[in-house]
Amino acid sequence: MNELLWWFGRSSGLVAYVALWSTMFFGVMLGSRGGGGLLHSPTLLALHRAWSFSAVAITGAHVLAVVLSPGSPIPAVAALVPFASPSLTGAVALGTLASWTLLLLVGTSLARSHVPAWVWGAVHALSAGGFVLALAHGVFAGPDTASPWVRGTYVVTVSVFVSAVAHRLALASASRTASSPPSSTRRRDFV
Ligand code: HEM
Repeated sequence: MNELLWWFGRSSGLVAYVALWSTMFFGVMLGSRGGGGLLHSPTLLALHRAWSFSAVAITGAHVLAVVLSPGSPIPAVAALVPFASPSLTGAVALGTLASWTLLLLVGTSLARSHVPAWVWGAVHALSAGGFVLALAHGVFAGPDTASPWVRGTYVVTVSVFVSAVAHRLALASASRTASSPPSSTRRRDFV
């Protein structure tokens, strides 16, 4: 039983990482108008929302399993306070900080109509940092990082995410160029 709960804690950590990645991926695609019109924006929004709630729920299950597992070296306080775990101190702190970022994101999104737009935007801008923290936590805390399958999952997910961000930036820069007037029609202030 002890082993079963600890095993569940590890596997739910991997599922929580994939849920967080999916949230980020669909969020980036949404920002690039469905990958430049390839995908339907309302579907992307629904996927982004559904994955964000799944990420919170699965992360909650992961933390509960790791903390409540009989004989666990991770105290409950480490779920809330970074660097409070005597075991895997730094690696667990990365997970605690990632969880706080996730809660802040979902909290400000649920209360979006009561939160100033700049606060919502600033918290959303933190999301990439939260994702990197969760990734580093998984890599350094997880014994399964030794498995080629898990390492492969980290490499593929990060590569796809970086490509989606690069695509979004390229589309934004192309639309800025298209909307700015040609140089011959611009006012020549320096004359
Ligand atoms: C967004 C939040 C989090 C995500 C996405 C996440 C994800 C992960 C992943 C992917 C692993 C590696 C699993 C493996 O290799 O088998 C892991 C391991 C671990 N996580 Fe988290 N985690 C998060 C938050 C937390 C928090 C807040 C704690 C603190 C209680 C925690 C405690 C642990 C521990 C102790 C391990 C190592 C388990 C072992 O040695 O077998 N995680 N986590």
